[in-house]
Amino acid sequence: MTDHLTIVDHPLVQHKLTLMRDQTTSTAVFRQLLREISQLLAYEITRNLPMTTQTIDTPLQPMEAPVLEGKKLALISILRAGNGLLDGVLELIPSARVGFVGLYRDEVTLQPVQYYFKVPENLEDRLVIAVDPMLATGNSSAAAIDLLKNAGATNIRFLCLLAAPEGVARMKEAHPDVPIVTASLDEKLNEKGYIVPGLGDAGDRMFGTK
Ligand code: URA
Repeated sequence: MTDHLTIVDHPLVQHKLTLMRDQTTSTAVFRQLLREISQLLAYEITRNLPMTTQTIDTPLQPMEAPVLEGKKLALISILRAGNGLLDGVLELIPSARVGFVGLYRDEVTLQPVQYYFKVPENLEDRLVIAVDPMLATGNSSAAAIDLLKNAGATNIRFLCLLAAPEGVARMKEAHPDVPIVTASLDEKLNEKGYIVPGLGDAGDRMFGTK
């Protein structure tokens, strides 16, 4: 993957995203759409994974058949909203290893602070896909990627549903080696740090909280 930002403009992705943005969409439908869209985004972010072959026997004859090369992927959910994307991606890549990064924003310094970090071993040998639906300021995403790099990851991709230009710029500055795949590059952040037009608070919409 070479482009820093890939926007998946597939009609199914865009249609489902519109339904998710609509404030009248229920929690249950929002969650189902997120699951479906995350699989379409995962298809795109895994498009150029390295392949090798393996000898198998079909019922008719032996063949050299294509399989994914290398250690199993690591999917890293950035809590809590990342879990909504994680579920769908994991259905598509069930053998992936899974990790979690929890960050909150310190109210005084406004800097992200780590409260949870548990990731698969041998991150240095794996393709790592970090998932978080909303790339807003990019501060917590960049901090999460810092933590993954400190844990040994060298081959990281970032999957989100919506991105703001500010977040993309922050990630490009901090982690130019980390390609981003998203369904939409929205207009901007508002004064409260929400993506506009956006879809509101992704965690609240998927978990039914306020
Ligand atoms: N996080 C969200 O859930 N929504 C936004 O718009 C920005 C950050």
